[in-house]
Amino acid sequence: MAILDGKLISNIIKNEIAEEVQLIKLKNGKTPCLAAILVGNDGASETYVASKVKSCEEVGFQSELIRMPSDTTEAELLFEITKLNNDPKIDGFIVQLPLPKHINEQNIIQSISIEKDVDGFHPTNMGKLVQGLPSFIPATPFGIIQLLERYKIETEGKNCVVLGRSNIVGTPMAILMSRKGYPGNCTVTICHSKSKNLETHLLQADIIIAALGIPEFLKGNMVKAGAVVIDVGITRVKDEQSKKGFVLKGDVKFDEVAPKCSFISPVPGGVGLMTVTSLLMNTLKAAKNK
Ligand code: GUN
Repeated sequence: MAILDGKLISNIIKNEIAEEVQLIKLKNGKTPCLAAILVGNDGASETYVASKVKSCEEVGFQSELIRMPSDTTEAELLFEITKLNNDPKIDGFIVQLPLPKHINEQNIIQSISIEKDVDGFHPTNMGKLVQGLPSFIPATPFGIIQLLERYKIETEGKNCVVLGRSNIVGTPMAILMSRKGYPGNCTVTICHSKSKNLETHLLQADIIIAALGIPEFLKGNMVKAGAVVIDVGITRVKDEQSKKGFVLKGDVKFDEVAPKCSFISPVPGGVGLMTVTSLLMNTLKAAKNK
């Protein structure tokens, strides 16, 4: 069993980005800039956004964090987005999800300029992804693709099961794994809460991408020997013993599953770090596209 080390790979990619940023600065005096809008003060979202801002500093990007209170109206948020759409200094931006319930997430996603939509959530970018056209690939699936590529994991002709069908991870991931090219050319099965005979599907899988958000869902007896397992889950589970009062749990029962795998990504230290780094890659692309 070998670990797919998200920390190692994201550090390598961040160094590559930092070198490119230096070249861009020398060539045209510009610094790529990522902005993030955070509405409310959800603990997990705070952590993600802080990590995005810190990573920007590490590679020499500028960043802007726009905090808005949890009672922000949809109109107020749309106004802030329009400002970012029109601000020439901003190359790309994200609106951290989830949003408070009174705000329609789709209205927000669709108001982001497609050239600055570095999350790749706008239906136009998602449509381009489906058709194999150049687009921003959503950061988590992009990070997984990078991990598979950098570890030279064989994908052609393999059975890939994607657990979960969210717009952010499961659905784009399934499209990417079935597309022509590398990584890709898999036979993909998407499983979700209504799937029957889940274990039958899983036991045929050469590659499993677990993105359900259910801590330790995937057990040892659901995985065939030699499988590649990617754990996308990152749920806060209460733990009195820990200083923070919680521990992060993946969707995979690591101790049971790892001994059966050829490769496995851990939590923490796997996909999470790759997600942030992929957002930087998309921002660099946005800056270069300008
Ligand atoms: N919430 C959880 N993951 C993401 C992500 O990749 N982007 C945004 N904007 N919000 C998220």
